[in-house]
Amino acid sequence: MRKIALVNQKGGCGKTTTAVNLASCLAGKGRKVLLIDLDPQGHAGLALGVKPDQIEESIYEVLSGKMPSSEAVKALRKNLDAIFSNVVLSAFEQVMAGVPEREFRLAEGLRDIEEDYEYLIIDCPPSVGLLTFNALMACDEALIEDKAGHGLTFKILATNIDRRTNFSNRVVETLRARFPKNCFKTGINTCTRLREAAAAGKPIATYDKHSAAFLDYQQLMKEILRQEAKMKAKSFALKTFVEAKDKVKASVEKEVAFIIEAPENASVQIAGDFNSWTPESLHLTHSHGRPVWQKAIRLSPGLYQYKYLVDGRWVSDPGNKKRADDFFGGKNSVINI
Ligand SMILES: Nc1ncnc2c1ncn2[C@@H]1O[C@H](COP(=O)(O)OP(=O)(O)O)[C@@H](O)[C@H]1O
Ligand SMILES: [Mg+2]
Repeated sequence: MRKIALVNQKGGCGKTTTAVNLASCLAGKGRKVLLIDLDPQGHAGLALGVKPDQIEESIYEVLSGKMPSSEAVKALRKNLDAIFSNVVLSAFEQVMAGVPEREFRLAEGLRDIEEDYEYLIIDCPPSVGLLTFNALMACDEALIEDKAGHGLTFKILATNIDRRTNFSNRVVETLRARFPKNCFKTGINTCTRLREAAAAGKPIATYDKHSAAFLDYQQLMKEILRQEAKMKAKSFALKTFVEAKDKVKASVEKEVAFIIEAPENASVQIAGDFNSWTPESLHLTHSHGRPVWQKAIRLSPGLYQYKYLVDGRWVSDPGNKKRADDFFGGKNSVINI
């Protein structure tokens, strides 16, 4: 799932308009989209014809752990689901004060539905507080309108561009010059139809397909889909690299048999660098009528320290003279593959 947050600490710069219309354009193109409203003002719901008092299951329930996100999801139209918010969400920051890892509540809360969607679009409140941090922690990409953020993978979208004014054109030029790699080629022009569409509770795609704003948001959607192809290529390259590395590793791995003599009724385990010192059980076999315990472990070349755990007691390998300090006053056995 590609996760995009719409962020800007200012209000009125087109976050909600972009969240709603980008989500609706992506859904129209056949992508499965989940829209999340993280703004207690609940504007995203309003822009899609859902009033705050019609929202019983909100994102607040998910963030506060009262409800799994799968239950808070509302199906809006084909390919488009949403979790809305209302004023109750404004209590979140206070309720969470002092709670550890409170920035990760959204990321945690969305885990159960992560596989169900191709796009997650998060509309943020006009402030950089706990809610926006939650959005950033749950996202891979932040889409910032008009102004740049710091230290995260961000893309800048110029909104409300009035091509007739010098000022607007200059702002767009300056942004592109300053952040050449981070600016969308697409810009969203000022278009009163957007305001009307929001007031009518409809995305622009439904309200007016002949408007300039519809073309702009279609353009933005296409630009985002083009990045999708690039991102896929990148993750494919990464996957083949990891697979190749695994293959090479597998080809040089050797099976090493670890063997120790111990009573039949003992509990015998082995732990070492090769299994992060998590004890693994050995199987009981017999050699010349004596009980021996063994386990075969595949190891790639390298130096490994290990120890046996016999009836809960750590013991070095009696059949291996190579030892190293375990820094607890004892010795680990050492094997060189
Ligand atoms: N490109 C645009 N042209 C004209 N009006 C717009 C445009 N983008 C947004 N608006 C209007 O501006 C107001 C604020 O936009 P909104 O998306 O709610 O901003 P934010 O979520 O950043 O506070 C809304 O009434 C919206 O309909
Ligand atoms: Mg908004």
